[in-house]
Amino acid sequence: MGLKNDLVVYTRLECESCEEMTCCIEKAKEEGADLVELCIDDFTFSDISQLELLLKQRSLPSIVSFRSKSPINSEGKKTCIQVLKLAVELDVEFVEVDTEVVCHEVVAELMKSRSNSKIIASTYVNGGNPTKETLCNSIINLQSTGADIIKLVIDVAYITDVAPVFHMLTHSQVPLIVRAQGDRGLISQLLGPKYGAFFVCGSLGGKYTPGLPSLTTIKQVYKLQYVNPDTRIFGVISNPVGHSKGPLLHNPAFRHTGYNGIYVPLLVDNVKEFFRVFSCNDYAGFSVGIPHKEAAVRCCDEVDPLAKSIGAVNTIIRRPSDGKLIGYNTDCEACVTAIEDALRERQKTNGHASNVSPIAGKLFVLVGAGGAGRAIAFGAKSRGARVVIFNRKYERAKALAAAVSCDALPYEHLNDFCPEKGMILANASAVGMQPKSDQTPISKEALRSYELVFDAVYTPRNTRLLQEATEVGATVVSGVEMFVRQALGQFKLFTNGLAPVDFMRRIVYEQF
Ligand SMILES: NC(=O)c1ccc[n+]([C@@H]2O[C@H](COP(=O)([O-])OP(=O)(O)OC[C@H]3O[C@@H](n4cnc5c(N)ncnc54)[C@H](OP(=O)(O)O)[C@@H]3O)[C@@H](O)[C@H]2O)c1
Repeated sequence: MGLKNDLVVYTRLECESCEEMTCCIEKAKEEGADLVELCIDDFTFSDISQLELLLKQRSLPSIVSFRSKSPINSEGKKTCIQVLKLAVELDVEFVEVDTEVVCHEVVAELMKSRSNSKIIASTYVNGGNPTKETLCNSIINLQSTGADIIKLVIDVAYITDVAPVFHMLTHSQVPLIVRAQGDRGLISQLLGPKYGAFFVCGSLGGKYTPGLPSLTTIKQVYKLQYVNPDTRIFGVISNPVGHSKGPLLHNPAFRHTGYNGIYVPLLVDNVKEFFRVFSCNDYAGFSVGIPHKEAAVRCCDEVDPLAKSIGAVNTIIRRPSDGKLIGYNTDCEACVTAIEDALRERQKTNGHASNVSPIAGKLFVLVGAGGAGRAIAFGAKSRGARVVIFNRKYERAKALAAAVSCDALPYEHLNDFCPEKGMILANASAVGMQPKSDQTPISKEALRSYELVFDAVYTPRNTRLLQEATEVGATVVSGVEMFVRQALGQFKLFTNGLAPVDFMRRIVYEQF
């Protein structure tokens, strides 16, 4: 059974029985795996003949490895060697030997007796923070077995611990497979192919496995088979980061425009340290999310004036000419232009079209003074709106109002605030966001004073606030519109101008 692709996507199968393993192989095939790792242990089979049948009938190229769930004793070692020898005898494509369980002599014996199987010598490096030296020593030790391929599974404490892995992949003299475990190790799989990795591991059935992308995202979203040494790296720096929809949008957009880029989730604990370690030009651009938007300003060499006044960046580009980090804020324009366009549309139908911003002179009620609130406050003010800020923590509302030169009022007064009709309401608080989607920041009755209601919350897309605003006849603008516009702004910055507007809009509105 041959492997078709240069980059091999595989999944690990840990099953209770040979029957379950057979079913999982079929499932892995459906999800696009090129290879499966059959992690055999003493519970997978009660009789070696069952295992023999499984290996003979396997429908995908395989790695056979032996992993004991309990501390291994001499009996366990015997079983392990029996399994590995059987795999070699049956010409299984890859046979993996854990060098912590069996000695180098066993590797030599398997090498001698194999005809077509490739022998992988593996080890596990635990403890986090692996240095280049630790990894080098492990590699030298594995190399000394004479195996065809060597494999390291390592623990990482921070995303920056993955940097030595990329160094090893680039410089290894023997074929090397590396997997960094845990959420912070995910980029070892997603970016590995850029550094020469030829095996990438994914999880089966979309099952959440820390550090592993799912097989379907590898095949359908990241399309790692197209990643090569020239691929430029982009990503979203956030913590948590698992919820980010950015990869689902930017990766297809890169391919649609023929741009050689990949966009990955970056679970970052310390943004300054991240930029110190991943400092080369290959790390070309970043979205910045919670809670790093403000700290990221201090990491930039230059900050766009608007982002500087907002005090938060949501996009960072590494300038190719000198490697300097330039910060931007695309949230602000995204929100304000979405509101302006909706108002212009409304004016058009009323026959009042004009070139002046339709926000100018309007009373603009902003709820929320967090990252999104700051961007919206500065944006609305820059268009000449009369901004009033309400925020649960009043002190925060007052501080933002002072920065923008506008007013702040206590949150409790939001429902009674009605100095005039035809106001604009922008919710930039997290109220109404899943899972608390039954909540709304303002009563339905109070919404009657507003001409337009915008909600930054985009999960769910049609929030309770927007539903009630529609019911009282206001124009509504969804957070999804802001999301798509800020992403388009980022994509333009990432690619120096490219942005497949219709394509990206379609993805967001159809899939999110
Ligand atoms: N559509 C888009 O493209 C886009 C972009 C960015 C953000 N967003 C959304 O905007 C919302 C805010 O994001 P952010 O980045 O500004 O977050 P953030 O910096 O953490 O700020 C959260 C804001 O929500 C308020 N808040 C949270 N829970 C509340 C509650 N139970 N009652 C009243 N106020 C509450 C906070 O008030 P306190 O100051 O009193 O804590 C603060 O104003 C999120 O739903 C986010 O998903 C959307």
